[in-house]
Amino acid sequence: MWKDSTKADKAAELMQMVPQALLKQGIIEGIIPESEKHQQTCKNIEQILLKRLNKLQKLSPNQLLANRKNVIESFKEDNMGNILTGKKIVVMGVANKRSIAWGCAQMMAEQGAQIIYTYQNSRMKKSLQRLVDDEDQLIECDVADDESIEQAFTTIKKRFTKVDGIVHAIAFAKKEELAGSILGASRKGYAIAQDISSYSLIAVAKVANQLNLLNNPASIVTLTYFGSERAIPNYNVMGIAKAALEASVRYLARDLGQKRIRVNAISAGAVKTLAVTGIKGHDDLLKMSQARTVDGEDVTISEIGNVCAFLMSDLSTGVTGDTIYVDKGVHLI
Ligand SMILES: NC(=O)c1ccc[n+]([C@@H]2O[C@H](COP(=O)([O-])OP(=O)(O)OC[C@H]3O[C@@H](n4cnc5c(N)ncnc54)[C@H](O)[C@@H]3O)[C@@H](O)[C@H]2O)c1
Repeated sequence: MWKDSTKADKAAELMQMVPQALLKQGIIEGIIPESEKHQQTCKNIEQILLKRLNKLQKLSPNQLLANRKNVIESFKEDNMGNILTGKKIVVMGVANKRSIAWGCAQMMAEQGAQIIYTYQNSRMKKSLQRLVDDEDQLIECDVADDESIEQAFTTIKKRFTKVDGIVHAIAFAKKEELAGSILGASRKGYAIAQDISSYSLIAVAKVANQLNLLNNPASIVTLTYFGSERAIPNYNVMGIAKAALEASVRYLARDLGQKRIRVNAISAGAVKTLAVTGIKGHDDLLKMSQARTVDGEDVTISEIGNVCAFLMSDLSTGVTGDTIYVDKGVHLI
C-alpha cells in the first residue's frame, strides 16, 4: 500500500500519537475505564484512523510532521458530531461518572453543547469536581428548596444569559419506602418521593420560565422508569412518583408549547447507579432487566445520553409531551 517506507513510518508514528494526545486532552477520558465502552471507543478510533490514514497517504513526511497539531484537531472533529453546536444546556443530577446525567452531559458535549451542571449539596460538588474542573459551570441547586432553585437559576441567568435546554435527572425516596409492600408506604415517605422526583420538574420549569431563561426553541428532558406503568418489586412510591412525573411532562408540554419549549421524558432501562442501590434487591432488578433486553446486554448511559442529545437538538422540534423508551426493549416483554 505504501510506496515510500519513510513516509509509512512517520505516518505510523503519528497515528500512535493521536489517541494518546486525545487522552491527554481529556476528550475520551472518563469513558475509558469501563471495558465495554473502551472497546467501543477503540472501534471508533480504529475507524477514524483508517479514514485519516487514507488522507495522510497523500502527504509528504515533512508535511505530516509539520501538521501534527492539525491532524490531532481534525481527529477531534471527526470524533464529534455537531447537532448541539452553540447550545447551552443545564444538566441536573450528576452524582458520579455512573450517573445517567453524566452520560447525557458527555454525549451532548460530544455533539458540541456547552454544559452547565447543578449539584445537590457540597458532598455532590466534591464528586462532580472530579469530573468537571471549570467552577463557573458548577452551581448548587437543592430541588427540595424553592429558594435554592431560584438562586441557582438566577446565577445561571447571570452567567449564561440564556440556555437552550434543561436535563432533569433527579429522584429520591427514603430507603425504607423502596422495600416490600406498597401497604407499608408512609404519608411522609410518599410525599418526599413525589416532591423530589416529580414536583421538582415543575418547580424548575416554573423558575426557568419566570426568569425567561430558555431560548426559542428550547427543550426540557426528564428521566423516568417503567415502574410508572408496571408494579415492579420494591419500586413502590417511586413508581407512583414516576407516573406523576410523566403526567407532569404532558401538562408542562401543553403550557410551554406556545414558547416553543418542548418537554419530554426518557424512560431509561435499569442501570447500576447510586440511586438504584437504594432499592431493595436491586441486583435482582438489574439482572431481570438485562435478561429482558432484546440482545441480553444492558443499555448504557451513553446510549441514554445520545437520545437526550437528540431531544435537546433541533432535530426533535416535532416531539413534545412524550415518553421515549431507551431500555433496549425491556418494556416490550
Ligand atoms: N438507574 C436507573 O436504572 C434508572 C432508570 C430509569 C430512570 N432513572 C432515573 O434517572 C435519574 C437519575 O438517576 P441515576 O440513576 O442516574 O442516579 P444518580 O444517583 O446518579 O443520580 C440521582 C441524582 O439525584 C440527585 N438528587 C437527589 N435529591 C436531590 C435534591 N433534593 N436536589 C437536587 N438533586 C437531588 C442526586 O444528587 C443525584 O445526583 C433519576 O430520575 C432516576 O429515577 C434511573
